[in-house]
Amino acid sequence: MQAIIDKLSSTAAATRAEDLRAAFAADAQRFTRFSASFDDLLMDYSKCAVNDEIMALLEELCATADVAQKRDAMFTGEKINFTEDRAVLHTALRNRANTPVIVDGTDVMPDVNGVLAAMGAFAEAIRSGKLTGATGKAITDVVNIGIGGSDLGPAMATLALAPFHDGPRLHFVSNVDGAHITDTLKLLSAETTLFIVASKTFTTIETMTNAQTARAFIAKALGEDAVGAHFAAVSTALDKVAAFGIAAERVFGFWDWVGGRYSIWSAIGLPLMLAIGRENFGRFLDGAHAMDQHFRTAPFSKNLPMLLGAIGVYHRNVLGYPTRAILPYDQRLSRFPAYLQQLDMESNGKSVTIDGKPVAGGSGPVVWGEPGTNGQHAFYQLIHQGTSIIPAEFMIAANGFEPELRHQHELLISNCLAQSEALMRGRTLAEAKTQLMAKGMEEATADFLAPHRVFSGNRPSITFVYDQLTPFALGRLIALYEHRVFVEGVIFRINSFDQWGVELGKELATGLLPVVEGKVAATGHDSSTAGLVAALKAARG
Ligand code: F6P
Repeated sequence: MQAIIDKLSSTAAATRAEDLRAAFAADAQRFTRFSASFDDLLMDYSKCAVNDEIMALLEELCATADVAQKRDAMFTGEKINFTEDRAVLHTALRNRANTPVIVDGTDVMPDVNGVLAAMGAFAEAIRSGKLTGATGKAITDVVNIGIGGSDLGPAMATLALAPFHDGPRLHFVSNVDGAHITDTLKLLSAETTLFIVASKTFTTIETMTNAQTARAFIAKALGEDAVGAHFAAVSTALDKVAAFGIAAERVFGFWDWVGGRYSIWSAIGLPLMLAIGRENFGRFLDGAHAMDQHFRTAPFSKNLPMLLGAIGVYHRNVLGYPTRAILPYDQRLSRFPAYLQQLDMESNGKSVTIDGKPVAGGSGPVVWGEPGTNGQHAFYQLIHQGTSIIPAEFMIAANGFEPELRHQHELLISNCLAQSEALMRGRTLAEAKTQLMAKGMEEATADFLAPHRVFSGNRPSITFVYDQLTPFALGRLIALYEHRVFVEGVIFRINSFDQWGVELGKELATGLLPVVEGKVAATGHDSSTAGLVAALKAARG
């Protein structure tokens, strides 16, 4: 594999692949040749430093890494998460073809369909007002209490699909900081509020602590007996949910073969279903399933997740770019970069290969971003003129949901396209000088100021265009990124499905709590940690 990476590197240099302006000038068909579509979803990667030789080598890289075989192993339930001895089957949750998916000799589809039906019945009962709070009032507000994958997915998707909301209002509480739940509860009436405690393990300290605070809120306002009517839970740990006291018919399960960051398709999606209804949630699953089929069947040159993953590795491991920016020109996707941070960085932020050896050449990049146009007025300066090259991933809908504000959508589109064009074209010193002199500036002054107005150009970006951000389109987009992370993880030769890196901090926090509470002395800690404990203790009195 390293040989192909090296070959990519020498080919990029020898073919001057990074001179994008020249590449576009020399080839009027460049966009057609370096873009691919799946239905209305278009991926334009022509503004990346690729050419035919590089794309052929990237295809060879995927073949050498056995991406297709490993993809099939994932879809068919092999235990590819070997450090936890688990299958990886979020795709079964949206397997709308309902073909059998076997884990340990059993077809998981009847269970998947059973939970989906139970979620649907519960969601419709709440939405219609058939199922009420303890005092008989309809539920107007739902608070999801969860963190990480039990929060980011439903929170992101609920915001993204706001035009489809016709159910109760949704709120999301994740942080153990009491400010989060306090500020949320302030807005709510206990009588009309339902809490969903969402935790795969049902042990996560943040979620369990917030759940207790929410329980106290209901008990104080309506009495202990009312608690049951105001809680539901989503978890794989049904015994722990029962111990918390939530009635079995209000508990929606999932399975250890669903990773937290891949769980939006499971009962973790219940808040989204409450907001947009069962049918729209079904369309969300349909979109992801369509992408799954595309990933499994399309040839490399047309396979969006393969292309996105291969170009991601090219940027990270061949060209050495350490981060990537996710820049949706879609305000309702404002939490999508945060969602992708967990999906990508928790999956591919690893240093050890599947053989337990150090990863050669870097694994997952830092993922970050904000929606456009806001980012333009904040950090785009660095993307255009900073010393680091940051591959950007733009996304834009052809149509918004505000026909009366068509002009605003046109402004949004033109800003999105202008940014990728500017990153690619740049502005030379001569162009900068000419521009200044055209404004009547003296030549000496223009010479002095022009360097500050130079844009190097040749800064790569990928642009996704889709018709409209419907449930189907969102499901498809999320699945595209899930599979991209998979492709990259296979090429990095890491296990993308565990997350041991979050454990040490959790262990130390548990040990530090009695120290912070003042129950035990800060012995055994380094002087910095002990000093900080002492400073906080002094400030708290
Ligand atoms: O600590 C990381 C993590 O395990 C994530 O992988 C997960 O999504 C999150 O915590 C929440 O976990 P749970 O759903 O078990 O509460």
